[in-house]
Formats: sequence, structure tokens, C-alpha cells
Amino acid sequence: MEHVSKVTHNLKKMCEQYHQVAMERERLTGQMTPTISKPINWEYYGIYKRFRHVEIATMDVATDNAIAFEVIKDYASHIVDNLNQGLGLIIKGPVGTGKTTAAIAIMKEAIKHKKSPYFISMISLLDKLMSFRDQEERYEFEQRIQNCPLLVLDDLGGEYIGKNKEESWMLKRIMSIIDERYQRSKSIIITTNLPIKELAERYDQRAIDRIRSTNQIITLLGESLRKEEWRKS
Ligand SMILES: Nc1ncnc2c1ncn2[C@@H]1O[C@H](COP(=O)(O)OP(=O)(O)O)[C@@H](O)[C@H]1O
Ligand SMILES: [Mg+2]
Repeated sequence: MEHVSKVTHNLKKMCEQYHQVAMERERLTGQMTPTISKPINWEYYGIYKRFRHVEIATMDVATDNAIAFEVIKDYASHIVDNLNQGLGLIIKGPVGTGKTTAAIAIMKEAIKHKKSPYFISMISLLDKLMSFRDQEERYEFEQRIQNCPLLVLDDLGGEYIGKNKEESWMLKRIMSIIDERYQRSKSIIITTNLPIKELAERYDQRAIDRIRSTNQIITLLGESLRKEEWRKS
């Protein structure tokens, strides 16, 4: 009996080690390794708990947004080709219209196709970039931001970039992340509450034009779905 429990213990340990090696390989190459049926580590992809059950196939679509969702579904159904070509989306619209949900539904398709995406809200991105003390950790994070096959920048425009646009370190960092990915044909999905014109004013017209050349713009309309949820509860 003791022997069996030792074997089980060793097997469990081996699985954990295999998983760690797989994660490290995935971080470095952006390719997923088939793992021993371990549940998906949503946190690793930056996916919040409340979005874990989102699936493109089962998303509820308001009539106002039927056409927009067709584009989202079409992008998701060709995810591998789209990521190989560095194509992305700009999903814009008022708060609560399902932008983040749509981006996460697309990420799930990428995960299914063994492409390792990364989701980060703009507020957390700047928070992280400012708070790293360990240089190695910072380097690893920046590598991932640069190299992952799909980066979701959630709520662009919601972050504080300082009063002086010309001198804003944060603005420069955001622009360089976006520009580097563009130069290396790596896909980005951006969600934002701001109209394109305001994005161009806030950041940089040329940078926004460049994003537009690879990212189709999708506008979600309607009342906040969050309100729907309050009404239901
Ligand atoms: N297609 C949908 N059908 C029903 N509810 C949705 C849908 N998309 C999002 N929601 C819900 O509506 C709320 C707002 O969605 P979210 O994606 O956070 O919006 P946004 O990012 O545009 O602010 C969330 O609570 C989410 O669960
Ligand atoms: Mg959102």
C-alpha cells in the first residue's frame, strides 16, 4: 500500500514538472505543448474568473450588434490565419456592451488552437510596468508582451497617462509596445470606450493609422448589458 502511494506521489510530481516545463516553453515560444489533461490555467492568460465560461459559440447577441458579432465570429473562426498574418481588431463602444467578453471569447479560440494569448487591462499594464523591482521579472513580462501570438489590451484610453503628452513616459511605453508588435506582425486586439478620433488625439495619429491597417474596427452599440444583469437580479 505504501508502495502504491509512493508511486502515485512520484507520478504527481512528474506531471507537475512536465507542466512547468511546458509553461516555460510556451512562454518562450508562444506555442503550447500538449499537457497531460490539466485544467486550463486561466490566470496564466490573464483571464478574469468571471469570464471563464465565455464561449464564442454560446454568446448572446443583442440585435443592435448582430453584424458586429458576425465579424467577431468570423475573426475567431479563422484565428490561426489571422494570428499568422498579425491581424487584429479594435472593438469599441460604450461601457458594458460586451467588448471585453468578445475579446476573451476570441482568446479562448486561440487557446483551443494552441496559440497562447495574453490579456491585460491598460490599468494593470501600466501598474505592472511601474512596479517591477526584479529586473528579471520585468524582462520576462516584457518578453511576453512582445512575443505572445495574441495580446489583448483591454480598455485602451482608460489608463492615466499624465498631463503632459509630450513628456509622458507611460504614453511612450504604450506606443512602443503597440509599434513593436506592429513591426513584427504580432496581433493585438484592443478594446476601448473612445472613438477613433479621440484615440488619435490622445496617442498619436500615425500609430493609430498603423493599427487601423491591420485591425478591423468593430463598434458595439446599445445599453449596458451590466444594467440588464442588475434588472434580472
Ligand atoms: N453577449 C452578451 N450577452 C449577455 N451578456 C453579456 C454579453 N457580453 C457581455 N455580457 C455581460 O455584460 C457585462 C458587460 O460586458 P463587458 O464585456 O464587461 O463589457 P465592456 O467591456 O464593453 O464594458 C458583463 O457582465 C458580461 O458578463
Ligand atoms: Mg471592458
